[in-house]
Amino acid sequence: MKFTYYGHACFAVQAGGKTLLFDPFITPNPLAKNIDIREVAADFILVSHGHGDHVADVAEIANRTGATVIAPYEVGTWFEGKGVKNVQSMNHGGAAKMDFGRVKLTSAVHSSSMPDGSYGGNPCGFIVESVDGNFYYSGDTALTLDMKLVGEATKLLFATFPIGDFFTMGVDDALRAAELVGVKKFVGVHYDTFPPIRLDHDAAMKAASAAGMELLLPAIGETVEI
Ligand code: NI
Ligand code: MN
Repeated sequence: MKFTYYGHACFAVQAGGKTLLFDPFITPNPLAKNIDIREVAADFILVSHGHGDHVADVAEIANRTGATVIAPYEVGTWFEGKGVKNVQSMNHGGAAKMDFGRVKLTSAVHSSSMPDGSYGGNPCGFIVESVDGNFYYSGDTALTLDMKLVGEATKLLFATFPIGDFFTMGVDDALRAAELVGVKKFVGVHYDTFPPIRLDHDAAMKAASAAGMELLLPAIGETVEI
């Protein structure tokens, strides 16, 4: 599957002939200054929670592309209130068939509020199933035993986990998460953007290989085949 990294926790995956964009936070991110959001494609925009570092560019990209926003209920209805046309407001444990395949919202241990302080519901992760393969994005979360349920129900090609520590899991817990969901490779996100989440890349890679895990850290703007 083709995976494009846009910095922080924003990435796109090609699945079932569609472009799925996750947690767009590009224009406020100095590390992603070479990404022009007018050129970011999306058929679907999946939003894990309401924090600014996950929603900053949702409305603009959705309005330009006509993409369908898939989000926890309160996040989705907030965007509808902002004039976003195509929104699927779901909730945890719920799955839905979409043009790309199937999506299910999983629990995440984090917090959620909208940039204007509105209630953001509970944060989520996503299991995406498609003819090209299945993957799991945990969203911002702590390590949680719930992840075991993800791997039991779905055979995954890869996962995407936050690894920056401080606000989310760090590398060591992400390695345990990978084991819980049953993947041998995962993409690390949510690091380097802010001072508290600066990552020691060498140490992270060493920890992954010591655990027999493949940690992928694509450059911002880079597309990799997973
Ligand atoms: Ni967050
Ligand atoms: Mn975050």
